[in-house]
Amino acid sequence: MFNPGNIGLLKLQNRFIRSATAEFMANDENGTVTKEYHSLYLNLALGDIGLIIQGHLYVMDEGKAHKHMAGIAHDAHIVGLRQITKLVHEAGSLIAAQLNHGGAFSVSTKTASPREDKEIKVMSEEDIENVVNGFGEAALRAKKAGYDAIQIHSAHGYLLSQFLSNKTNKRTDSWGGSLENRAHFLLSVYQEIRSAVGSNYPVLVKMNGSDDPLEGFTAGEGSKVASWLANEGLDAIEISGMRSTRTVKPEREAYFAPTARIIKQHIGDMPLALVGGLRSLAQMQELRGEFVSFISMCRPFIREPNLVQKFKSGKKRSDCISCNQCYKARNITKCFEKNNNDL
Ligand SMILES: Cc1cc2nc3c(=O)[nH]c(=O)nc-3n(C[C@H](O)[C@H](O)[C@H](O)COP(=O)(O)O)c2cc1C
Ligand code: SF4
Repeated sequence: MFNPGNIGLLKLQNRFIRSATAEFMANDENGTVTKEYHSLYLNLALGDIGLIIQGHLYVMDEGKAHKHMAGIAHDAHIVGLRQITKLVHEAGSLIAAQLNHGGAFSVSTKTASPREDKEIKVMSEEDIENVVNGFGEAALRAKKAGYDAIQIHSAHGYLLSQFLSNKTNKRTDSWGGSLENRAHFLLSVYQEIRSAVGSNYPVLVKMNGSDDPLEGFTAGEGSKVASWLANEGLDAIEISGMRSTRTVKPEREAYFAPTARIIKQHIGDMPLALVGGLRSLAQMQELRGEFVSFISMCRPFIREPNLVQKFKSGKKRSDCISCNQCYKARNITKCFEKNNNDL
């Protein structure tokens, strides 16, 4: 776990990744980052994590997924984001930008798909093209802002994963129906980003390995999409799933490992990062020895930004008890668990 590893040309000091974690700290009116970001990312950057993936950033105003989400939709966003990358780099760490469009989960009423409290708007060809371009332009901004890599968010039921699943994608045109058609959007976004940032810039995708328990997108389908991305030159894939923040019992750690294991068989040498319920160093080491290139964590780093250093000094397990109070708060991301002595 403590050996360096590569994602494309990027050299990570170890095999730990901080999975993207929404901060709920941006100015709500315009998506610019606030001073609170600085201490959050400085603490993470001082913690020896191989790669920090920042919380999802909306690529277009209408793709903003929740209040106080940060944006990368306009050039005006670059200045604040650059301050974060600078601070992380000065502390000796690497940082990636996660790009997202909320689709049906967007705050705006302008976009996409079914949601009970919203009218359904079927995206036109032009809407889809605009979003593809929006991802490309956002990627270029991320590069200008100094990020070391980009991650495309295609998991957790947001727009790109809505298109992947036949439970949510009911289209009958070239963007729906067969798996090839449902994956067309994600592949188009990847190609657009690749042509914007160039062949040497690391690009990752976070994807549901399957939609279990919805049974819309299976591990077999996930394997095919991941293999297509690998063939296109994707640098790494992070495997997650629906209901991403599950409770974790020691016997149910690494709850997405079974689907990730299937997917790994289809992606050749492309590195796979696994997220979801990883808590003990022993389990991480076992998975590393088997098929996982990088171990990704979210809630453990909310509770202990310096967890990697603690592991190095002999700690065996994260203190995070997966109570999800941080997830449910939806105002500011921190550990609210009452026995946390660092509160
Ligand atoms: C407060 C909070 C915010 C999150 N924000 C994001 C996000 O911005 N992007 C994302 O891909 N996943 C997000 N997630 C999901 C995590 O990245 C991760 O996939 C999930 O929590 C499972 O990993 P864990 O068991 O290590 O927490 C968030 C989770 C939490 C608890
Ligand atoms: S609030 Fe609960 S789930 Fe969140 S970091 Fe703290 S212990 Fe972990």
